[in-house]
This record gives sequence, structure tokens and C-alpha cells, in this order.
Amino acid sequence: MKGLHLDYTNSFVKEDELSRLEPVVRIAHEQLHQGTGAGANYLGWLSLPDQRDSREWEELRQTAAEVRSDGDALVVIGIGGSYLGARAAWEMLGHSFYNQLSTDRRQGPEIYFAGHHLSPVYMVHLLQHLEGKRVWINVISKSGTTTEPAIAFRIIRDWMEKQVGKAEAKRRIIATTDSYKGALKRLAKDEGFRTFVIPDNVGGRYSVLTPVGLLPMAVAGIDVDEVMKGAQEACHRYANPSLTENPAYQYAGLRNLLYRKGKTTELLVHYEPHLHSFAEWWKQLYGESEGKDHTGIFPASVQFTTDLHSMGQYIQEGRRNLFETVLRFRQPQVDITIPTGEQNGDGLDYLAGKTLDFVNRQACQGTLLAHTDGGVPNILLTLPEVTPHTFGHMIYFFEKACGISGYLSGVNPFDQPGVEAYKKNMFALLGKPGYEQEKETLQKRLLQETKY
Ligand code: PA5
Repeated sequence: MKGLHLDYTNSFVKEDELSRLEPVVRIAHEQLHQGTGAGANYLGWLSLPDQRDSREWEELRQTAAEVRSDGDALVVIGIGGSYLGARAAWEMLGHSFYNQLSTDRRQGPEIYFAGHHLSPVYMVHLLQHLEGKRVWINVISKSGTTTEPAIAFRIIRDWMEKQVGKAEAKRRIIATTDSYKGALKRLAKDEGFRTFVIPDNVGGRYSVLTPVGLLPMAVAGIDVDEVMKGAQEACHRYANPSLTENPAYQYAGLRNLLYRKGKTTELLVHYEPHLHSFAEWWKQLYGESEGKDHTGIFPASVQFTTDLHSMGQYIQEGRRNLFETVLRFRQPQVDITIPTGEQNGDGLDYLAGKTLDFVNRQACQGTLLAHTDGGVPNILLTLPEVTPHTFGHMIYFFEKACGISGYLSGVNPFDQPGVEAYKKNMFALLGKPGYEQEKETLQKRLLQETKY
């Protein structure tokens, strides 16, 4: 997919401003490629597209085929980097109403996600919905100790064992986790679950091109070979150290310059509901990688034209700390023509014969001009058609840009120490053994500082 095109004409950043970053971008490039920067133990994602293990690949294919032929539903249990990539691919590349399609049309199981929150409502409704279906579970956790997926797994596994018995439930559980550590790894070993490994040197939010993302994708019927080919193409294209020739590095540089100009919030803009989870994946990637040391761009996302009717006013005239990165595709997956009305009662005859994609594009162009007139810089990322190949390319593009961007802003883009703070408090309040003292302190604080 040579066609990824970055256009920063409307970004309010001049060409020479960007090119002045060349020396620091080169340093960031070397840190990343020579493993001399912060977080160098987590650079495995850089070469994933070039290093496929054929045995693991074959196992992944066979397992996916088995789940596709033997399952009515796959529940993917995971949170953050352990589910967003798979969900992004499934939504972006699949049918908008995938789970509602007939089995014949879908040719694979329904797909559900769990373990990405603690909602009892969702869990009860999910189990009610799964009643009577042949359910498979793919439980995914790099650390193997994350509370949300661990609880979801315990509940769904217990439910499944009551439905089909222990032995059959075990056959239908696949664990994707670390090669040697964590509670999930131990459990999988003790219980004899089928397992896939997340490489040690690949962190959660950079793991979509490992079995974390690839197994659920394959079960959903996505051509994972093509995903990896797209990623490989990107891997080679964005290995170029030259800022002027590398759009991933330009994107990183532009973000850095805009942040320094006071643009502290980046909106990832798209015009397709099926890109919703891609934007969620992107938000985690950038938010968790860069939000450190009381610095970093706040990554947000908007789906247009939907959000033009809710957030449009703010973007046009609110605080001027925003910039937009717009994702556009040259070709829609499918399109539809607007028919002629009998009496033009709705006044839309001027659009008769035009396609919905044409209208969507005009909305995009018009919005781009309005927002730049309103003082919101726009970076345009144009991609070819929506395919597994493009998806793989996009994943790698954003990962590479994120690594460079993190180094440019002086943070370690591969850790997430801040995520621990809420976990510590939650464990203490839940009474997890080892947190007794914190529990007492927190309960006192809650009594003093809150009304309940
Ligand atoms: O990027 C990360 O490492 C995290 O956001 C994780 O993906 C998330 O916390 C889930 O962790 P785990 O896969 O260990 O359950």
C-alpha cells in the first residue's frame, strides 16, 4: 500500500519549521533502531512483520479454523492493548452488522468482547445472550494479572463449565499470555489450556500484530496474511531515517511542533462508524505512550458527521488548543446512489444520482475548510481502500510514529507507570491480601473527602 499520503498543507506548520526537526528526528530514529532509548526492552514490535514464526503461524491458523467450524460465538476477554487492536480490525474490516448476519453469510462465529470493564449489566446480558450457543473463549492478558479480564474469565468459564462440563469447557478455552509469568500462564499450564504467547519484548498496546490481535482476527475471517503484508510494507517504508521521505516521522514531527504551539489536544477524525474502535486503539497507543511527566498531547477522537452535531460547535469556536488528524480513504468498501424523489418534497433532487460516499467526501472537504478557518490545524492522512493490507499498514504507521513522537517529547513511550495508581487503590478497597494498610488509609480518606 504505497498509497498512504500525509498532507500538512492545512496544519499551520511551515515546511521549513518541520524540516528543522530533521536532526532530532534522526536521533530518535537511531534510539529506536539501535535500542539505545528509554524502554528499549520493549522494541519487539518494530520487527514483528519481518519475523513470523511459521510453526506458531500454522497453529494460529488451525486453531482459528477449529473455532470457526465448531463455535457459534467467540468471547474475546481482554482490556486495553489486549483487545482494542482485534476489535478495531473486526469493526473496520467486517460487516457493520457482523453478529446479526446469518451463519451462512458470516461463515464463522459471532464475536463478543468482555473483560474490558466491570459492568455487571453487560456481563449478565452477555451470558443471557450466549445461552444455548457453542461458546469459545480467547482470554488475553500479557501480565496475566489484570483484574478486569481475570474476573470476566472466572465468571464466563464458570458459566461455561456449568453448561457443557469441565472437559469440554477446557477444550474451548484459548489463553494468550506471557511465555512464563503471571497467574494466567500458571492457570493455563495447570489446567492444560491451549496457549499462544505474547513475546516478552512487545508491550500491550503494541501487540496487535501478535496472536493477541491475529487470533481473533483470523477467527473473524480476516486475512491475517494480508494484515502482516501491509505491516511489513510499512515496516520497510518507515525505516527510512529521512524526515522528508518518511510520513510516519513527519506525523510525529508535526504533532511535536503543534504541541509546542499550544495545541494540546489532538482529535483523530473519521467519517465512518466502522473506524470507532480503530480510534479507541489509537487513543490508547498515544495516550498511554506519551501522557507522562505532566506533559503530552491529549488524544481524543470524533466521528463525523455524527459529532459535528454535538462537538462541532466547540471545535469551530471553542478553546483554540485543538488540532485534527483526519483519516480518509480513497475508496469506500461499498457505496449507494441517492435515488430521484417523486416530487422532490425533501428538496434533495440536486443530489439524485450522486453516491452517499460523494456526499460524505464533500462533508469532509467542507469541514476541513471550516475548521482551518476557525483556527484548527488539520493533518490529512489519506489511505487507499479499506482492506486487511491497509489495516496492517496503518497499525505499523501509527506505532512507528508513536515511538518517534515519544522520544521527541523526552518520555519513555513503552511504559505505563501511571496505570498502577488506580489499581493499587482498587485492590486496597476490595480487600486484596497485602493491601491491608492502604485499605485503612483510603477508607479514612473517603469518609473525610466524600459524602458517601
Ligand atoms: O499497553 C499496555 O501494556 C496496557 O494498556 C495493557 O494492554 C492493559 O493494561 C492490559 O494488560 P494485560 O494484557 O497485562 O492484561
